[in-house]
Amino acid sequence: MSINYQDRIPNNVDLGSNRTLQRALEHWQPEFLNWWQELGPRDFQVADVYLRTATSVDAKGWATYGYVRMPDYRWGIFLADRDAERRIGFGDSYGQEVWQQIPGEYRATLRRLIVTQGDTEPASVEQQRMLGHIAPSLYDMRNLFQVNVEEGRHLWAMVYLLHAYFGRDGREEAEELLERHSGDADKPRILGTFNEPIRDWLSFFMFTYFTDRDGKFQLKSLAESSFDPLARTCSFMLTEEAHHMFVGDTGINRVVRRTLEVMKELNTEDPVAIRNAGAIDLPTVQKYLNFWFSSSLDLFGSETSSNAASYFANGLKGRPDESRYEDHIATDQVYSLEVPNGNGGIKTEEIPMRNAMNDVTRGSYVKDCDMGVTRWNRVIEKAGYSFRLSLPSTRFRRNIGSWAGVPTDPTGKPIAQDEFNTQIGNWLPSDSDRAHIMSLMHGVHEQGKMAAWIAPPDRGINNNPVDYEYVKMH
Ligand SMILES: [Fe+2]
Ligand SMILES: [Fe+2]
Repeated sequence: MSINYQDRIPNNVDLGSNRTLQRALEHWQPEFLNWWQELGPRDFQVADVYLRTATSVDAKGWATYGYVRMPDYRWGIFLADRDAERRIGFGDSYGQEVWQQIPGEYRATLRRLIVTQGDTEPASVEQQRMLGHIAPSLYDMRNLFQVNVEEGRHLWAMVYLLHAYFGRDGREEAEELLERHSGDADKPRILGTFNEPIRDWLSFFMFTYFTDRDGKFQLKSLAESSFDPLARTCSFMLTEEAHHMFVGDTGINRVVRRTLEVMKELNTEDPVAIRNAGAIDLPTVQKYLNFWFSSSLDLFGSETSSNAASYFANGLKGRPDESRYEDHIATDQVYSLEVPNGNGGIKTEEIPMRNAMNDVTRGSYVKDCDMGVTRWNRVIEKAGYSFRLSLPSTRFRRNIGSWAGVPTDPTGKPIAQDEFNTQIGNWLPSDSDRAHIMSLMHGVHEQGKMAAWIAPPDRGINNNPVDYEYVKMH
């Protein structure tokens, strides 16, 4: 169904034919807008921002671009087209028809899954709300705001499901999604990473690379769900999500490129000299990478999980790209896991495959993360330097799962707590690293200008030049 932009709430779900649902969502809409004004991007609400808006759910040509004031953005409900032939792709009911309504026994679990996903969307907007002022260029500022409005739309995607399929409980959950706030002492967001403040643009790029990529894998798992409306909404969210990871990937790439230029100009690899020249030394990039990668790994949950097993068995949440696996039932397989042996060493444990689904998904995520690292290293190699960025071990600095609280070095080797404490400043951003990064964060809001710590992008947005006026201030 094509997108209806005549309704107050743009949608492709024929919202007008269900007056009760339409009214309920129209009631939630002003609350969402209040939230956006209060906790969305600070101070740029009257700027004209060159944004894309979804016009179709086709992967090709699905958006139009134009200047929009953010509060006027047409947030709406867009589901990928329904495939009438679609069958359950995994678990105990493999091959049966997918569900258009929720089976009663899975109601509470699905609600929890949808609320947990939904909670991350406004959380990231809140985390990033102070970044506009210190944007390194209008191009970057526009990308930030694009990500922000789309995370707002992802909230709409989940709120639609809550309202349409969960009755009163769903409406209450939708309210609470606007009541919890990132970092709030009393009502924090559900997941830890989404309560970490993002005060600088290096963190923002790491977040969009690593944490939005967690989002990608969660959405891919939910896009496999037997609950068809959830699968369809997540499929379309993935189309938008790709840009968020692009922002992170190219952002880190540009930081690295600029650093290499400075290293060449000054003929030095000395971090102090590079910092004095107003750039970000590569060891600091590595520390920020260590921080955000390890934090994002926790979002996948424990390695061994009976919840994950029952989500899989019941067809609620599959593996990303489930069709690529041979066995969709996964009852006879085992999975080996490296866990602490309680004596400062490592032992291997075998667990039923279904209980390992979190770790299976995390494994695909790690591979995907590594592709960017390879690309960034190629840039460093081409410039003639031997430094290499790398992903730390999945055992490093974990707060969830079998390695939670077990001290290891970045290669995953278990070490004594004392050693961990003395080395931590070499592995994670220290106060002085953070102070240096903050000292570089001065907004560059002049058309065509770029901050000195980051290289310009290769190309602009939607075939426009890099120096296009992506944000018009007033
Ligand atoms: Fe999102
Ligand atoms: Fe995202």
